[in-house]
Amino acid sequence: TRVALLFGGRSGEHAISAATAAGVMKAIDREKYDVIPVGITRSGQWVVASDDPARWELASGRLPEVTAESGAEVVLASSGAGTVLQVLEPGSVPSVLGEVDVVFPLLHGPFGEDGTVQGLLELADVRYVGAGVLASAVGMDKHYMKLVFAGHGLAVGPHVVVPPRDWEQRRAEVLTRVQNELKLPVFVKPARAGSSLGVTRVDDLADLPHAIEAARVHDPKVLVEQGIEGREIECAVLGGRGGAAPRASVPGEIVVDHESVDFYDFEAKYLSATQARTQAPADLPGEVAEKVRDVAVRAFEAVGAEGISRVDVFVTPEGEVVVNEINTMPGFTPISMYPKMWEASGLSYPDLIDELIKLALE
Ligand code: DAL
Ligand code: MG
Repeated sequence: TRVALLFGGRSGEHAISAATAAGVMKAIDREKYDVIPVGITRSGQWVVASDDPARWELASGRLPEVTAESGAEVVLASSGAGTVLQVLEPGSVPSVLGEVDVVFPLLHGPFGEDGTVQGLLELADVRYVGAGVLASAVGMDKHYMKLVFAGHGLAVGPHVVVPPRDWEQRRAEVLTRVQNELKLPVFVKPARAGSSLGVTRVDDLADLPHAIEAARVHDPKVLVEQGIEGREIECAVLGGRGGAAPRASVPGEIVVDHESVDFYDFEAKYLSATQARTQAPADLPGEVAEKVRDVAVRAFEAVGAEGISRVDVFVTPEGEVVVNEINTMPGFTPISMYPKMWEASGLSYPDLIDELIKLALE
């Protein structure tokens, strides 16, 4: 089976996607699968990339980057019988890299996790791992995601949407709404981004406009979310294709050292060994863990996800489960929770990848 790993890409999470690819390259069974690593540069060029995981790891604060260095450009083409990835050497006749059985789009953020690549792969009639076009798009947009969750009866936190147009004219109206409808602290987030890029915690309303402007650098649509008092719990979901019901892993927990950091930001996630740690399984009473797993599967089904997703929730002191978000292509870096929660549930990393590829081929 020939598997193209697609990674890098045009989003702010380019480096995290490369680190995710390193995680998968390391764990995938090479006896069973031919791995074709296809990197996407920040400007959107597809290149045949190194299949050495060490090249793509997050090492001592170094953020990996896909560049056009290999000089070979990849073209996705649809032939009558299936899809081929072609390699174009500059100045040479295109040589066919071969048919690919399945694409694993290990892309995080816009232009990868948001339905755009999924749409391209649908057009080319190629199998791929993970959610389809609509679920990917909904899962990328924190505004529509919340509408869909709420529409399915799931608890979401109080929030105010700052629409993409006319921010300057609406500034007073937005500030009044936040003041009247939300309690501090609030978290200001770009609607379509990930890995906490562009996210600011605001403890004083006077800082809100600046935080909104910082989020707008990533996306003109911004969400202001009320901070939820509770533990940060995550749950991995797998399956949901070919008639099989999706299943949930044991929940895991993100434990943030609030002495050194305000919240689980980009640095705490990927660059610092001390600001946060992850634990799987999370130490939760049995019935709360069951509730989290039930909410995770319902969130997965609410957006119509397939194959893989990580659902992030808050468990309040009263034991209520509030959905924070779904990630339809969660991270596979060494600190990432998705594979860790499956390992804690008895599914090894190589078997997990095996199952994801099998689901895509169903
Ligand atoms: N957006 C990051 C990669 C995650 O959800 O794990
Ligand atoms: Mg996310």
